[in-house]
Amino acid sequence: PGTGGLGHGPDWRPVIRPRRLRSTPAMRRLTQQTRLHPAELILPMFVRDSVDEPVPIGSMPGVVQHSLDSFRAELQRAARAGIGGVMLFGVPERKDATGSGATEPQGILNVATRIAVAEVGDALVVQTDLCLDEFTDHGHCGVLDAAGRVDNDASLLRYRDMALAQADAGSALLGLSGMMDGQVRAVRDALDAAGHFDTAILGYAAKYASAFYGPFREAVQSSLQGDRRSYQLDPANRREGAREVLLDVEEGADVVMVKPAMSYLDVLADAAASSPVPVWAYQVSGEYSMVEAAAAHGWIDRERTIDETLLGIRRAGADAVLSYWAIEAAERWARA
Ligand code: PBG
Repeated sequence: PGTGGLGHGPDWRPVIRPRRLRSTPAMRRLTQQTRLHPAELILPMFVRDSVDEPVPIGSMPGVVQHSLDSFRAELQRAARAGIGGVMLFGVPERKDATGSGATEPQGILNVATRIAVAEVGDALVVQTDLCLDEFTDHGHCGVLDAAGRVDNDASLLRYRDMALAQADAGSALLGLSGMMDGQVRAVRDALDAAGHFDTAILGYAAKYASAFYGPFREAVQSSLQGDRRSYQLDPANRREGAREVLLDVEEGADVVMVKPAMSYLDVLADAAASSPVPVWAYQVSGEYSMVEAAAAHGWIDRERTIDETLLGIRRAGADAVLSYWAIEAAERWARA
């Protein structure tokens, strides 16, 4: 009784031939098991206070800190490309210990949110990063206690206020990326108490303390000294990622996230297998810059590599992907 393809036939020839399904472009197209679509891409965007022209980000070739004008133009392009949404980050002029700019209605992120909702709010899901790090002078994702440590519960109070400012500005989905314990529950409670029942929460459930965020720190002109290891996850820990996903789901997250993407595909696959809510992945700045740098040297085929990274992330189980290539990829797929 033969089992596999070998030794099953009359002679040495294989009976089972997986290559049949790879034989022609039409057959390959029909039997493709993961497909890429613009609707599952989300573009992260940086909007900078008080600039008239977009400012290039040196470590992320092709990505800029937007002026309000270039922001509007890029939003229109994103809508035409048919991507799923945009995730907004603010780059404020002034920073302070509590990140006041995050909660002021005239703070750059809240201003940008109102613009995005007015410009493309019907076509795209306008989402906002809910974290203090761009707004604090010490660069941490929360506020500090007297000893200089990141104070979990005091930070939750700031997140609650920030959530209300963002919901008031019209953000449809708040991306809670600060990694404080209990942040999803604390923010859901604040939103509901204010009647913002329809504002959704994306919990950055499994966010790892990663070297791949390097270029992002330039993108938002981070003032961080030290690191985020007392609140972001240790890259060594798979089970801890699964626990954080569970907690965010229990606390009421509408969507959960794994971040970064490519070095955490096991965590992503775990989350995809266990989560009852959508699971997204963030292909972060370093993942982008790494491919751009290698491609600029002519060491890899840029477009094929981009698509392969996105395919890998989707194949591992992500329902949607935040990617700095969102518009470019969506436009290219539409032409293909
Ligand atoms: C924190 C935040 C970070 C990123 C997104 N949100 C930086 C960090 O945690 O240090 C990184 C995104 C990227 O690298 O593309 N608000």
